[in-house]
Amino acid sequence: MSCGASFTSISIGTLARSKAAYRPLGAVEEEPVDTHRLKDSFAKIAMHGDEVPLFFYSDLFIKHPEVRELFPISMKAQRDHLIVALGQVISQVDRVDELSAFLRGLGRDHRKFGAVAENYEYVRDSLLETIAHFSGDAWTPELATDWMDAYTLIANVMLNAAIQDEATRPAFWQGTVVSCERKAFDVSVLQVRTEPRLDFTPGQSVAVESPARPRLWRYYSIANAPREDGTLEFHVRLIDGGAVSMALTYLQAVGGSLRLGPPVGVLRLDTSSGRDILMVAGSTGLAPLKAMTEQLAAGPAPPKTHLFFCARTVDGLYDLGSIEKLAAEHDWLTVVPVTTADPRFEGESGSVPDVVLRSGSWSGHDVYLAGPTEMVRDTSARLISAGTPRGQIHVEDFGWSEP
Ligand SMILES: Cc1cc2nc3c(=O)[nH]c(=O)nc-3n(C[C@H](O)[C@H](O)[C@H](O)COP(=O)(O)OP(=O)(O)OC[C@H]3O[C@@H](n4cnc5c(N)ncnc54)[C@H](O)[C@@H]3O)c2cc1C
Ligand code: HEM
Repeated sequence: MSCGASFTSISIGTLARSKAAYRPLGAVEEEPVDTHRLKDSFAKIAMHGDEVPLFFYSDLFIKHPEVRELFPISMKAQRDHLIVALGQVISQVDRVDELSAFLRGLGRDHRKFGAVAENYEYVRDSLLETIAHFSGDAWTPELATDWMDAYTLIANVMLNAAIQDEATRPAFWQGTVVSCERKAFDVSVLQVRTEPRLDFTPGQSVAVESPARPRLWRYYSIANAPREDGTLEFHVRLIDGGAVSMALTYLQAVGGSLRLGPPVGVLRLDTSSGRDILMVAGSTGLAPLKAMTEQLAAGPAPPKTHLFFCARTVDGLYDLGSIEKLAAEHDWLTVVPVTTADPRFEGESGSVPDVVLRSGSWSGHDVYLAGPTEMVRDTSARLISAGTPRGQIHVEDFGWSEP
């Protein structure tokens, strides 16, 4: 089965009818799933640690060996990704309406893996087998029905979105690296042309796969507003031992190819409030905020915008030149470089929330934060305590912390 495999051969109807025990959506609504029972069951299973994904994947790959090729060659580092995600998402089935946008995005995004409708049945069967195995005596017909119904509901939302997406967009985009510049020891900036053109909203990211690391996909934010030639800019921070960032930094040559998934993410600029804007970028968290700044520059009457660009050391302020150039061209934009641990730097330094908070009052601003988890979390919490309403804060959490 290839990554470009199509959904058209199997419809959701087929999926729902193909097993007698597979309940259609209507039945789920009539008999609401007991989410407390689901969450409790998942928490108990999770206590078995690594044994759970091992059992799940062994069951899946023994019964359906062709599915193995959808997953990375080495699954050491990430064998718990899917199973943890499945457990977390499915046990939140009571929030399916709230999670609908996320699930639809997830379904569209799964096309790049080559996941087709029948795979959803295989995953369901192995998931139930795994939960039954680790539940022991706690596995009752009621619990089995809860898991089955919850999975059906979630899988149907994902599959519906995937099927609709198939009519208008490819499963993935073919990219060619047109330039690659090492802006700092640990940050490279790549310009990529895609085929076909990939439309996106500034603030969004796409999953990227390098041919040197087949089937290992990592998200990278697009660092530019849409361009006439359709090229995309990515800021890649080199992570010591990081599978994909090392491949993109050391093995990706100009002219080389990449594959890109569909644009994802809910971070996007909204100037409808008329409020001024505060942006705080940590390291390559600059990428989505730079894209949004370019979008502001291209639009009418941009609001006053303060952009704090933060890195541990001055070398980490890798793209300062280009955003300072933008600030020199536009009086509505102020750029403040910040280092958190560099005695050589003569500008603003200290912890990111401290620097931001002592530089002004932000309660009347729309706020955009992007970068490492810790920075995003701490800055957001401090802004909220200082009076910025939670609803005015928009974040893109890259999902990691500074080493
Ligand atoms: C929505 C989104 C957008 C993102 N956008 C960008 C972007 O624009 N630019 C960018 O550089 N990254 C971005 N990331 C992070 C990126 O997806 C990868 O996580 C990162 O490149 C590491 O991947 P890897 O395969 O090299 O490392 P892995 O092989 O996945 O990780 C190796 C080890 O390093 C740790 N680790 C992973 N990432 C970091 C990190 N950044 N700092 C310290 N330790 C780390 C892991 O916990 C693991 O122990 C984004 C992430 C998300 C979720
Ligand atoms: C209800 C069903 C499913 C849910 C909720 C789900 C959810 C997820 C999530 C949240 C991720 C992590 C995303 C990321 O890190 O990019 C993931 C990864 C993945 N999923 Fe799914 N998924 C489902 C079904 C499937 C199916 C049917 C397949 C095909 C066999 C599949 C294949 C994959 C692959 C290959 C990965 C990436 C590999 C990995 O990180 O381990 N998923 N899934």
